[in-house]
Amino acid sequence: MADWSRRRHREGVTIGFVPTMGALHDGHRALIRAARLACDAVVVSIFVNPTQFGPAEDLSKYPRQLRLDQALCRKEGVDVIFAPTVKTMYPTGAQTVVTVPGIARRWEGEARPHHFQGVAIVVTKLLSLVQPDKTWFGQKDYQQAALVRQLVKDLNLPGLPIVHPTVREADGLALSSRNVYLSSSERQAAPVLSRALQAGVAAIRAGERNGTRIRRHMLRVVETEPLATMEYLAVCDPATLEPLSLLNRQAVLLGSIRIGTVRLLDNMLTAFRRKP
Ligand code: PAJ
Repeated sequence: MADWSRRRHREGVTIGFVPTMGALHDGHRALIRAARLACDAVVVSIFVNPTQFGPAEDLSKYPRQLRLDQALCRKEGVDVIFAPTVKTMYPTGAQTVVTVPGIARRWEGEARPHHFQGVAIVVTKLLSLVQPDKTWFGQKDYQQAALVRQLVKDLNLPGLPIVHPTVREADGLALSSRNVYLSSSERQAAPVLSRALQAGVAAIRAGERNGTRIRRHMLRVVETEPLATMEYLAVCDPATLEPLSLLNRQAVLLGSIRIGTVRLLDNMLTAFRRKP
């Protein structure tokens, strides 16, 4: 992989990179298309990264469908699929860890203690190998995108991170490789998370500036769905991800709910307008 990239760079070819864990869907496809438009060559990595899964999580049942993913990549004009084995990425004897303690502390970091350390190490390794000019991440995983931005800046890694808007189903549910875990009744209940975030956005649009009250608007929507339990709902600073009690600037609304055994994740950014 590194040799291929070195050769392309020598020829003056720009490389766009989309890191994934496979089970590709229209969200991934949108990232690939954006990379295709902006760069001469596109690399997609497909690697179900074991270090970002907790011991009780879904590593063994995470959907793996390399053949289908290859077909999608071919159709989208991807130049290289980098699909290393676990042994290649993590040979025995490796010791180095990468942590981004500030951004990883709350929300997903609290729910999944070693998750972001796993993401940080694998993204560091992938960027070092692929040496991209630009790298695409989805807003769907807002905290991950914020973490990567910090990581790339702090370690002078290659591949300017670009965040692409979340791709959704018609009913608002954010596309995710994990949506296949939902039963049909759970699937029907799942859009309640995006509806809750929408309610938060609407409250802000209507002039609400109190973080606690905005959060309550979102919670009330989640509580209308008997299959859903809230993991967290938060009104946060878009850069630090610390909760905001008063919205005197742009905010990101972060949310996670559990439906049955499936955890769903979503977020929405708000525009900030001063009250007239
Ligand atoms: P994965 O979940 O496969 O997602 C790969 C990329 O696609 C991520 O940047 C994610 O935010 C983006 N994505 C997923 N669903 C999306 C949607 N509905 N709309 C827009 N973008 C979406 O995230 C990972 O893999 C891994 O943590 C990884 C970064 C590859 C490191 O292992």
